[in-house]
Order: sequence, then structure tokens, then C-alpha cells
Amino acid sequence: MLSTRRAISKVCELLYGIDSKNLKGLIGMASQRQLSSKEIFALEDKCGCRNYAPLAVALSRGEGPFVWDVEGKKYFDFLSAYSAVNQGHCHPRIIQALKEQADVLTLVSRAFYSDKLGEYEKFMTEIFGFDRLLPMNTGVEGGESACKIARKWGYDVKKIPENQAKIIFAKGNFWGRTLSAVSSSTDPDCYTGFGPYMPGLMVVPYNDIQALEKELQDPNVAAFMVEPIQGEAGVIIPDDGYLKKVRELCTKYNVLWIADEVQTGLGRTGKLLAVEHEGVKPDILILGKALSGGVLPVSAVLANNNVMDVIKPGTHGSTYGGNPLACAVATEAIKVLLEEKLAENAALLEPILRAELEKIPKDMVTAIRGRGLMFAIDVHESIPAYGVCQRLKEAGLLAKPTHGQTIRLAPPLVITEQQLRDGAQLIQKAFQSYK
Ligand SMILES: Cc1ncc(COP(=O)(O)O)c(C=O)c1O
Repeated sequence: MLSTRRAISKVCELLYGIDSKNLKGLIGMASQRQLSSKEIFALEDKCGCRNYAPLAVALSRGEGPFVWDVEGKKYFDFLSAYSAVNQGHCHPRIIQALKEQADVLTLVSRAFYSDKLGEYEKFMTEIFGFDRLLPMNTGVEGGESACKIARKWGYDVKKIPENQAKIIFAKGNFWGRTLSAVSSSTDPDCYTGFGPYMPGLMVVPYNDIQALEKELQDPNVAAFMVEPIQGEAGVIIPDDGYLKKVRELCTKYNVLWIADEVQTGLGRTGKLLAVEHEGVKPDILILGKALSGGVLPVSAVLANNNVMDVIKPGTHGSTYGGNPLACAVATEAIKVLLEEKLAENAALLEPILRAELEKIPKDMVTAIRGRGLMFAIDVHESIPAYGVCQRLKEAGLLAKPTHGQTIRLAPPLVITEQQLRDGAQLIQKAFQSYK
């Protein structure tokens, strides 16, 4: 009688033309065990570019506000991939949209029309109240595209002399890692060693209307690009009225206001857009991250005709921008956000999270800030913020410090009140363990 292995070998040879030597390799691969966390850390450390210093946890599954590591331990995700997973991990409706579209058409490039892009553009422009949408992929591409549009508008419409256009940014901004983004950064870790820098980018202090007005008077300024709440800088919330004043001044000096809502947008701060807190509308809106619910890199730039029409065929583009898969996923991700009232949930939970965080001993934190479910704790210098995050990880909650002593908290917006309270208790305990 043939041994089992030889029998399989024979069948494979007959059916698939795989000889017994190749089969051995395939069987080896198929029976490969799940790598342990430690092995995963070592693999990345050896073979990957060391551009991140991740917390020591290796995740292999996610559902709603939870993730699981490869050893099966469950965690609250209080980072949400920097607010990309607002709809929760692997939202079934978004994953279903992904699977259905993946079966029929994924990419045609913009050399041809697809049956998905126009519909998606109509859906998005109606929801966000702009005439046109430019589809891109990552958040930083959205920012780059907005800056290109603003420069072109500066020359074609505002009549700024050739190559003289300026774009103003706010101190502490973060909009990604391209050369333009690092050229406008005020964080030495971001820009040091990456010069020469992109000309025509200027910086004013955040939340400083007088400083902004002074610069806006320069007739060569095309745009002011700003986050309604600065995320990476540590959830820096400007004074009430700041965005309203930004709107007024940009209109007064004929300068485009670009709102970078890549992190603050799509429900995170308790409104669909953070600019809605002040009832104002930018000239250019950038969306990303949660636009796909954490499923694909999908970003978008929205503007009205008088701005977007400066872009003509051949002047800007992206092979993957607006691909049918992205359109299907983003449409469903936005529908989930609206139909499940996730912005409303964030607004409802904001005071609960604030009250829970205020139970942390007063001498251990110097400030607690937040809007919606976008919070930060400034940790007193006597307590190591990174150490707190490590203890949180041990207790079953994932969060990461930003800029040394600030811990950012941004759970998925699908989190329930009870889950939020449970998570917050783990945070209180992690701090108390330093007493
Ligand atoms: C406000 C803001 N803009 C832009 C970006 C860049 O997005 P991406 O990493 O998708 O390029 C980020 C990323 O954190 C961000 O927070």
C-alpha cells in the first residue's frame, strides 16, 4: 500500500504536475506555524527599514474596538491606527464591499472611466458640499495635491507672479512625510537631514490670528493650510473662534483656506468634520485615514469649481487614485459612519471619557485635552509616558505616546460606553501603579 505522503505526492503529480521535490517545500510552507511575537519583532528588526519604533505587540486580528496579538491576548485599541479605524476593525459592511468589488474590478487607472468613480464623486460632493473631488491614496498625497491646486490657483486666478506663490502652515503641523511635508514641519525629527527644503512654504504660530493676518497681507500668499485640531502635535485645540477668524481673514485677503481633516475628520471630534464645530467651510478640504475605515489607503481633496478647475488633464494624477476598489470601500465606510451615527457617538462619549480621565491622580498629569474621542493626556515629568503605555499594554490596552510626555487616546468610534469605561479604568490603574 502507498504511504499517505506518497499517495498525496502521486495525486499532485497527476493533477497539478507538481513533482515530489516541490511538494516537500509546499507541505513545509503549509504546515508553517504562527510566528511568536518575539520572532516577529526580530524579523522586522532584521529585514525592515527601522523608520518606526513600535510598542512590543504583534497583532494578528481585529474586530470593532479590539485587537488580538499572535498569542491570542485581547486588547482595547485606543490608537485606531491614528484615527484611520473610526468604524472599528474589520467592519463587516466595509469588508463585504471590499470583497464584492474585489471580485469584479479593482483598478483601471484614470486612462479609462470606471463604473464606480463618478458615482463615488457624486456621493462625496453631495455629503461634504463641494462641487468636485480629486481622488488620491494617502493623506500626505491629499496634502501635496491641495498645495499644488493652491499654487496653480495662485498663478491662474490670483495672478501671483510666476514661481512666487507662498503657502502658510502652522507651527506644530503634521501632514506626512514627503519632502514638502517635512519642508513645512517644525519638528526637527521630521526635517533634519532631509534638505534642501521646498521653497515658498512659511510657518506662523498655531492659534495666533494676529501673526496669521500679518502674513496674509503678502499678495503672493496663495493658501493657509491648517489642522482644525493638531493631532500629532498632541491634540492641540485652538481657542473658540480661531477657525471662524481664519475663514474671515482668508476671504478678506483672497487666500485659499485648506483644512487638513485627515485626522480630525469623519466623526473623530464628534462632528462629521471638525470645522463644523465653528460652522465654517474651507476652500479646500483634505480627507484620508477613516475614509476607508482602515481598509485601504484612500484620500480625497474636495473643492468648488473656481478652485478645482485650475487642474487640467495631464497636470496631476495618480495610478491608483479613484480605483474602483477604493471607491466601493470609501462609499461604504462613509455610509457606515453616517448610518451608525459614529460622530454622534463620539460626541456623546466625550464627557464620559473626560470624567474618567480626570480620576487619574492630579499630581501625575499636567493636562487633559479632548474633543469627541480625540484625547491627550500630558503626563507629569516624574512619570514615564512610554512606561505607562507599556503597563497599559500589559493590562490589555494599546496607546502610544507622542512627543515624549503626551499620551494620545483615540478609540474606534464604535466603542460602547461600557467598553470606554472599562478602557479608562485600565488607564487609571496604569497611572496608580506608579504611586
Ligand atoms: C493631519 C494629518 N494630515 C496628513 C497625514 C498624513 O497621512 P498619511 O500617513 O496617510 O500620509 C496625517 C497622518 O498622521 C495627519 O495626521
